[in-house]
Amino acid sequence: MILRNAKVLINYTLQRADIRIHDGKIIEISENIERNDGEEVVDLSGKIITPGFVNTHTHASMSLLRGYAEDLPFNDWLFKKILPAEEKITPEGAYYGALLSMMEMATHGIVAFCDMYFHEDMVAKAVADFGMKALLTRGLVDSNGDDNGRLDENIALYKKWHGYEDRIFVGLGPHAPYTCSKTYLSRIIDLAKSNDMVVTMHFFENLWEYEKYTPKEIIELGFDKVHFIPVHCTQLKPEDIELLNGSYPSINTVSNMKLGNGIPPVEDMLNNDLPITIGTDGPASNNSQNVLFDLRVSILLQKRNDPKNFVLNKAFDSITKNGYRALNIPGGEIVVGNPADFAIFDEEHIQLQPLQNFLENLLHAYTDKVYATMVNGKFVYIDGKFPTVNIKEVLSKFTTFSKRVTGIEN
Ligand code: NI
Repeated sequence: MILRNAKVLINYTLQRADIRIHDGKIIEISENIERNDGEEVVDLSGKIITPGFVNTHTHASMSLLRGYAEDLPFNDWLFKKILPAEEKITPEGAYYGALLSMMEMATHGIVAFCDMYFHEDMVAKAVADFGMKALLTRGLVDSNGDDNGRLDENIALYKKWHGYEDRIFVGLGPHAPYTCSKTYLSRIIDLAKSNDMVVTMHFFENLWEYEKYTPKEIIELGFDKVHFIPVHCTQLKPEDIELLNGSYPSINTVSNMKLGNGIPPVEDMLNNDLPITIGTDGPASNNSQNVLFDLRVSILLQKRNDPKNFVLNKAFDSITKNGYRALNIPGGEIVVGNPADFAIFDEEHIQLQPLQNFLENLLHAYTDKVYATMVNGKFVYIDGKFPTVNIKEVLSKFTTFSKRVTGIEN
């Protein structure tokens, strides 16, 4: 396939280039590519191609609970509203919740996400059907030495799905230091080491988490020896930031603000050269899954006292290059050899003008949907349509399951 006549974002600047794709990968980039016999050509005149975006933390199936628990402090939100409702989520409900979230993410140029939840086998099926990339983890919690078979479930998920079509990957998702024992966390670390699995965990989102363990105690269990995505890190003290060296923090600014959990220490992390990434968190706590919006809020918050903070290229890296590094998969730049994962924009879009400041305008002004999103050389969203799913059917099933879970009947 050849993508022809578009402007392409390479090294943070737009260039006129054609892109040849074979087996889901970029195999040639040059100004004019001649078509070979049998090769499909997609004319993208008037369009802009950028690397696709990565959402490094969500709970996709929680779209079923979007808008269900509002204006509540974190503990009431989680323990009184969310956990009881989650009991009612069936595997099929999780499937349609995940599909709806992927539709949302695809309209915002997201090509890959990291998920932590239950019924992940059905989330994997949804990812397989929809065409997106994902690093999936079964949320792991234990009490009194018993995890109710959750870790076994995660291992089964790994055996069944890891590596599927170069799109689905399986890691380990201990829920948080406050819901896991140290013995359990050590077991998870051992498993991650022996299978080379990515580990992701909610990490010091709340100040009261210090009552159980310190960040140092947790990291010293071996999180510094595995590929680790600590999520939130909102309450980390400046002296604790260097504990995260070698990890890929997922910043969830919007969720943190909405649940009253504070502001993540992005500038301290950047000063420590940490490859920060952006996560939206689940749709019940954000409530949207648009990393461009979340990145913008994150940038503004970091700039509130000093506009030199969180500069353009570093910000863009956080949703592209760093996102891929976090998920431990290749991609994030438009270069030969990388997967053909793209966000595609209309160059006549008003908020992108003037085009010579494309990246500035994309990060600081653009609020709309993208024109198209491509994953491994296939469109998952283009011009308002989703080639792999029937919108009406998904919406109808999704609504049924959402009403069942929230107990709202009309
Ligand atoms: Ni979360």
